[in-house]
Amino acid sequence: MSHYKPDPNKNVNLIIDGLPVSVPEGTTILEAARKINVTIPTLCDYPELGRRAICRLCVVECDGRSKLVAACANDVWEGVNIVTNNIRILNIRKTIVELLLANHPQDCLVCVRSGKCELQKLAADLGIREQAFCREEENQKPPLKDSETLVRDMGKCVKCGRCVEVCQEIQSVRAINTACRSVNYEICAPYGQALSEGPCVFCGQCAAVCPVGAIYEYDQTAEVRAALNDNGQNVAVQIASQTGAALETEFGLPSGSITTGKLVSALKRLGFDKVFDAGVFADMARAEISGEILTRIKNKSKLPLINCCSQGSINFVKNFFPELAGHLSTCKNPRNVFGDLVKNLDSSRFTGISVSCIAHKFEARQSGTIDVALTTRELGRMIKLSGIDFKTLPESPFDSIMGNSPASETFKAVNFKEADRGIIEAEYSLQGTTIKALAANGLANARKIMDSIKVGECKADIVEIMSCSNGRKADGCDCGGLFISKFRAEQL
Ligand code: SF4
Ligand code: SF4
Ligand code: FES
Repeated sequence: MSHYKPDPNKNVNLIIDGLPVSVPEGTTILEAARKINVTIPTLCDYPELGRRAICRLCVVECDGRSKLVAACANDVWEGVNIVTNNIRILNIRKTIVELLLANHPQDCLVCVRSGKCELQKLAADLGIREQAFCREEENQKPPLKDSETLVRDMGKCVKCGRCVEVCQEIQSVRAINTACRSVNYEICAPYGQALSEGPCVFCGQCAAVCPVGAIYEYDQTAEVRAALNDNGQNVAVQIASQTGAALETEFGLPSGSITTGKLVSALKRLGFDKVFDAGVFADMARAEISGEILTRIKNKSKLPLINCCSQGSINFVKNFFPELAGHLSTCKNPRNVFGDLVKNLDSSRFTGISVSCIAHKFEARQSGTIDVALTTRELGRMIKLSGIDFKTLPESPFDSIMGNSPASETFKAVNFKEADRGIIEAEYSLQGTTIKALAANGLANARKIMDSIKVGECKADIVEIMSCSNGRKADGCDCGGLFISKFRAEQL
């Protein structure tokens, strides 16, 4: 057993493709290469996930040795001379991708990930222009629609293992696993059961990390377009402050290209009758929960109060900690506040659309308060289809609902710190009462807090659970962490 423990205070000097670089001990070859803008192709590697070295696309030569090493999984060492790109390495990478393509449906033009697919990009970057190996038609299976929000098209799976890692390690849910070996190796729900029959909480994180079109959200854009084309129907949408930034990533545009004002104009052009700021409904929900927390503190009952970003987190609490379900907040979340309000706007029929993340799709189906939860990817597809050009769009203001939003004087941060990786600790002042708060990004972190509540060690008054690990930045939704999400932490 190795007892090697890297010392991050010690620097290691090495050469990559002839360029000198100095990085802390414990840095991977891949990270060191990125530091000097040397691109090494990857497929199984993903930020936040552990080192797995499954795809072998990132192989490099070290000191001219015959054995290639995976750059994503090996640390640099003093004086090593690394070559990331020669004919031998390129041929190996090309063969790996060609073999993946031999086992992959050739429906890129109609695939949901077309243009955003990492395999497609790798094939293009490596100059693959023809099928080098015969396709294995018998391996192609129809997509599985066995959950309320996700479609699994396992014929497209490249077995990178990202989804399994995120579900098991980041979420601690273990709803998907690997099975069989060699050519029969597959990613599946345990015992081959339907995803909805197992412990899946519908957080959508597996789809968020999948590099190809193997796991994706149910597309509801046709439903929304039908509502927009129905003259007897009014359609309202709420968007979060991060939606524009997430769409920039979707469109490959530089930061600041899609301002909120331009996005409002785009949504009006798509035919939405009202476009609302999700922040208004978050303020309303926050005001309601503020009252709930003060009442619970006064009555010394069911503390800490647990506030969940989505039905995914609620499912997590109910499935894994049923004895603590009474701690869940009974207040409406921002989407439901929005849904209730737009349904009562006037006598005409309003359809409520919320733009957020996959986890909210399950919630929309369950609660029925909002009609559809669209992901930013779906919204991006609708905008592309309509040919809207953000460059020439004017800025438009949000519609207002019931006058101004309530004053959000509720919480003011006093102290704010990262208590553990992915767990934020804060103190707030609320009407003269000091509130101790904890927020978890990702369900494995939430599990740590839930375990501490279970054994009576949690001293917080309120606990927030975000079912994603990145504060929802990637999905363009900031409505989950009403008080102390990671995103808000970065803002403060
Ligand atoms: S939706 Fe979440 S819980 Fe379900 S399989 Fe995917 S990562 Fe696991
Ligand atoms: S489903 Fe997607 S993330 Fe999971 S192993 Fe297959 S390609 Fe990778
Ligand atoms: S990215 Fe390194 S082995 Fe897959």
